[in-house]
Amino acid sequence: MHGIISTLKNNYMATKSAKKTSGKTQKKKEPVSNSQLHEFFVDSLKDIYWAEKALTKALPKMQKAATTPQLQEAIEMHLGQTMEQVTRLERVFGLIEEKAVAKKCDAMEGLIKEGQSIMEETKDGSMTRDVGIIMAAQKVEHYEIATYGGLVQIALTMGLDEAADILNETLEEEKQTDTSLTEIAENDINWQAEQEDGQEEDK
Ligand SMILES: [Fe+2]
Ligand SMILES: [Fe+2]
Repeated sequence: MHGIISTLKNNYMATKSAKKTSGKTQKKKEPVSNSQLHEFFVDSLKDIYWAEKALTKALPKMQKAATTPQLQEAIEMHLGQTMEQVTRLERVFGLIEEKAVAKKCDAMEGLIKEGQSIMEETKDGSMTRDVGIIMAAQKVEHYEIATYGGLVQIALTMGLDEAADILNETLEEEKQTDTSLTEIAENDINWQAEQEDGQEEDK
Protein backbone atom coordinates (compact mmCIF):
# COMPACT_ATOMS: atom_id res chain seq x y z
CA MET A 1 0.00 0.00 0.00
CA HIS A 2 2.87 2.34 0.80
CA GLY A 3 4.20 1.61 -2.67
CA ILE A 4 0.98 2.83 -4.25
CA ILE A 5 0.94 5.99 -2.16
CA SER A 6 4.54 6.82 -2.94
CA THR A 7 3.91 6.21 -6.67
CA LEU A 8 0.99 8.58 -6.42
CA LYS A 9 3.14 11.15 -4.63
CA ASN A 10 5.93 10.77 -7.17
CA ASN A 11 3.50 11.31 -10.01
CA TYR A 12 2.18 14.32 -8.17
CA MET A 13 5.66 15.79 -7.74
CA ALA A 14 6.55 15.04 -11.34
CA THR A 15 3.47 16.90 -12.53
CA LYS A 16 4.27 19.81 -10.23
CA SER A 17 7.85 20.22 -11.37
CA ALA A 18 6.85 19.78 -15.02
CA LYS A 19 4.55 22.70 -14.54
CA LYS A 20 7.24 24.84 -12.96
CA THR A 21 9.57 24.31 -15.90
CA SER A 22 6.84 24.81 -18.48
CA GLY A 23 7.21 28.56 -18.01
CA LYS A 24 3.48 29.17 -17.85
CA THR A 25 2.35 31.37 -15.02
CA GLN A 26 -0.35 29.73 -12.93
CA LYS A 27 -3.38 31.73 -11.95
CA LYS A 28 -4.74 31.36 -8.42
CA LYS A 29 -7.88 29.59 -9.65
CA GLU A 30 -7.63 26.09 -11.01
CA PRO A 31 -7.07 26.23 -14.77
CA VAL A 32 -10.28 25.61 -16.69
CA SER A 33 -10.10 24.05 -20.10
CA ASN A 34 -12.58 22.85 -22.68
CA SER A 35 -10.58 19.82 -23.69
CA GLN A 36 -12.15 16.40 -24.16
CA LEU A 37 -10.31 15.20 -21.08
CA HIS A 38 -11.76 18.03 -19.05
CA GLU A 39 -15.23 17.08 -20.26
CA PHE A 40 -14.59 13.46 -19.32
CA PHE A 41 -13.37 14.58 -15.90
CA VAL A 42 -16.52 16.62 -15.28
CA ASP A 43 -18.70 13.73 -16.44
CA SER A 44 -16.93 11.33 -14.10
CA LEU A 45 -17.36 13.79 -11.23
CA LYS A 46 -21.11 13.94 -11.91
CA ASP A 47 -21.21 10.15 -11.92
CA ILE A 48 -19.46 9.70 -8.57
CA TYR A 49 -21.45 12.60 -7.13
CA TRP A 50 -24.62 10.63 -7.88
CA ALA A 51 -23.01 7.48 -6.43
CA GLU A 52 -21.99 9.12 -3.14
CA LYS A 53 -25.42 10.65 -2.71
CA ALA A 54 -27.06 7.28 -3.37
CA LEU A 55 -24.75 5.75 -0.76
CA THR A 56 -25.87 8.22 1.90
CA LYS A 57 -29.29 6.58 1.49
CA ALA A 58 -28.11 2.98 1.10
CA LEU A 59 -25.62 2.86 4.00
CA PRO A 60 -28.19 3.47 6.79
CA LYS A 61 -30.18 0.47 5.48
CA MET A 62 -27.07 -1.70 5.53
CA GLN A 63 -26.24 -0.48 9.01
CA LYS A 64 -29.71 -1.35 10.27
CA ALA A 65 -29.60 -4.79 8.69
CA ALA A 66 -26.13 -5.68 10.03
CA THR A 67 -25.94 -8.24 12.84
CA THR A 68 -22.82 -7.27 14.78
CA PRO A 69 -22.32 -3.90 16.50
CA GLN A 70 -18.79 -3.89 15.11
CA LEU A 71 -20.05 -3.85 11.52
CA GLN A 72 -22.83 -1.40 12.38
CA GLU A 73 -20.25 1.02 13.79
CA ALA A 74 -17.97 0.69 10.78
CA ILE A 75 -20.87 1.47 8.44
CA GLU A 76 -21.98 4.39 10.58
CA MET A 77 -18.50 5.85 10.51
CA HIS A 78 -18.31 5.52 6.76
CA LEU A 79 -21.73 7.13 6.40
CA GLY A 80 -20.30 10.24 8.09
CA GLN A 81 -17.31 10.16 5.74
CA THR A 82 -19.57 9.69 2.72
CA MET A 83 -21.54 12.81 3.61
CA GLU A 84 -18.26 14.71 3.83
CA GLN A 85 -17.23 13.25 0.47
CA VAL A 86 -20.39 14.67 -1.13
CA THR A 87 -19.37 18.12 0.17
CA ARG A 88 -15.82 17.62 -1.11
CA LEU A 89 -17.11 16.88 -4.59
CA GLU A 90 -19.12 20.10 -4.47
CA ARG A 91 -15.88 21.92 -3.65
CA VAL A 92 -14.19 20.33 -6.65
CA PHE A 93 -17.08 21.39 -8.93
CA GLY A 94 -16.68 24.90 -7.53
CA LEU A 95 -12.93 24.94 -8.18
CA ILE A 96 -13.40 24.16 -11.87
CA GLU A 97 -16.39 26.49 -12.12
CA GLU A 98 -18.90 23.77 -12.91
CA LYS A 99 -22.33 23.30 -11.41
CA ALA A 100 -22.56 20.30 -9.06
CA VAL A 101 -24.91 18.04 -10.98
CA ALA A 102 -25.52 14.37 -10.25
CA LYS A 103 -25.69 12.00 -13.20
CA LYS A 104 -27.05 8.53 -12.57
CA CYS A 105 -24.27 6.01 -12.14
CA ASP A 106 -25.51 2.65 -13.45
CA ALA A 107 -22.64 0.75 -11.89
CA MET A 108 -23.30 2.06 -8.38
CA GLU A 109 -27.02 1.52 -8.82
CA GLY A 110 -26.28 -2.13 -9.62
CA LEU A 111 -23.93 -2.55 -6.66
CA ILE A 112 -26.49 -1.06 -4.28
CA LYS A 113 -29.20 -3.36 -5.70
CA GLU A 114 -26.92 -6.33 -5.19
CA GLY A 115 -26.47 -5.30 -1.56
CA GLN A 116 -30.23 -5.04 -1.14
CA SER A 117 -30.84 -8.54 -2.46
CA ILE A 118 -28.13 -9.96 -0.18
CA MET A 119 -30.00 -8.42 2.76
CA GLU A 120 -33.27 -9.94 1.55
CA GLU A 121 -31.76 -13.38 1.01
CA THR A 122 -29.96 -13.71 4.35
CA LYS A 123 -31.53 -14.30 7.73
CA ASP A 124 -32.06 -11.48 10.19
CA GLY A 125 -29.50 -11.62 12.99
CA SER A 126 -27.23 -14.07 11.19
CA MET A 127 -23.47 -13.83 10.72
CA THR A 128 -23.93 -14.83 7.11
CA ARG A 129 -25.87 -11.58 6.69
CA ASP A 130 -22.78 -9.68 7.87
CA VAL A 131 -20.49 -11.63 5.57
CA GLY A 132 -22.81 -10.66 2.69
CA ILE A 133 -23.00 -7.01 3.71
CA ILE A 134 -19.22 -6.78 4.04
CA MET A 135 -18.75 -8.27 0.58
CA ALA A 136 -21.33 -5.93 -0.95
CA ALA A 137 -19.76 -2.94 0.83
CA GLN A 138 -16.27 -3.89 -0.35
CA LYS A 139 -17.47 -4.07 -3.95
CA VAL A 140 -18.71 -0.51 -3.50
CA GLU A 141 -15.39 0.58 -1.98
CA HIS A 142 -13.41 -0.99 -4.81
CA TYR A 143 -15.53 0.83 -7.37
CA GLU A 144 -14.91 4.08 -5.49
CA ILE A 145 -11.17 3.42 -5.17
CA ALA A 146 -10.94 2.85 -8.93
CA THR A 147 -12.94 6.01 -9.62
CA TYR A 148 -11.11 8.34 -7.23
CA GLY A 149 -7.73 6.85 -8.18
CA GLY A 150 -8.46 7.74 -11.80
CA LEU A 151 -9.86 11.17 -10.96
CA VAL A 152 -6.80 12.13 -8.89
CA GLN A 153 -4.48 11.23 -11.76
CA ILE A 154 -6.59 13.10 -14.34
CA ALA A 155 -6.73 16.16 -12.08
CA LEU A 156 -2.94 16.10 -11.67
CA THR A 157 -2.46 15.71 -15.41
CA MET A 158 -4.60 18.76 -16.04
CA GLY A 159 -2.77 20.78 -13.39
CA LEU A 160 -5.76 20.85 -11.04
CA ASP A 161 -3.62 20.40 -7.96
CA GLU A 162 -6.13 21.54 -5.38
CA ALA A 163 -8.86 19.35 -6.86
CA ALA A 164 -6.41 16.43 -6.85
CA ASP A 165 -5.67 16.97 -3.15
CA ILE A 166 -9.36 17.01 -2.26
CA LEU A 167 -10.08 13.89 -4.31
CA ASN A 168 -7.07 12.15 -2.80
CA GLU A 169 -8.45 12.71 0.70
CA THR A 170 -11.55 10.78 -0.29
CA LEU A 171 -9.48 8.11 -2.01
CA GLU A 172 -7.60 7.48 1.24
CA GLU A 173 -10.86 7.17 3.18
CA GLU A 174 -12.20 4.60 0.72
CA LYS A 175 -8.99 2.58 1.03
CA GLN A 176 -9.13 2.71 4.82
CA THR A 177 -12.74 1.58 4.81
CA ASP A 178 -11.89 -1.35 2.56
CA THR A 179 -9.08 -2.38 4.91
CA SER A 180 -11.20 -2.18 8.04
CA LEU A 181 -13.99 -4.20 6.40
CA THR A 182 -11.44 -6.91 5.62
CA GLU A 183 -10.28 -6.87 9.23
CA ILE A 184 -13.82 -7.16 10.56
CA ALA A 185 -14.52 -10.11 8.28
CA GLU A 186 -11.27 -11.87 9.10
CA ASN A 187 -11.42 -11.30 12.84
CA ASP A 188 -14.36 -13.56 13.50
CA ILE A 189 -17.41 -12.86 11.39
CA ASN A 190 -16.40 -15.24 8.62
CA TRP A 191 -15.59 -17.98 11.13
CA GLN A 192 -18.84 -17.53 13.04
CA ALA A 193 -20.82 -17.58 9.81
CA GLU A 194 -19.19 -20.85 8.93
CA GLN A 195 -20.56 -22.36 12.19
CA GLU A 196 -24.10 -21.29 11.35
CA ASP A 197 -26.77 -23.84 10.58
CA GLY A 198 -28.15 -23.21 7.14
CA GLN A 199 -31.09 -25.62 7.44
CA GLU A 200 -33.68 -23.64 9.39
CA GLU A 201 -35.56 -21.31 7.06
CA ASP A 202 -37.13 -18.57 9.11
CA LYS A 203 -36.34 -15.36 7.28
FE1 LIG B 1 -17.43 7.38 -1.00
FE1 LIG C 1 -16.94 4.48 0.35
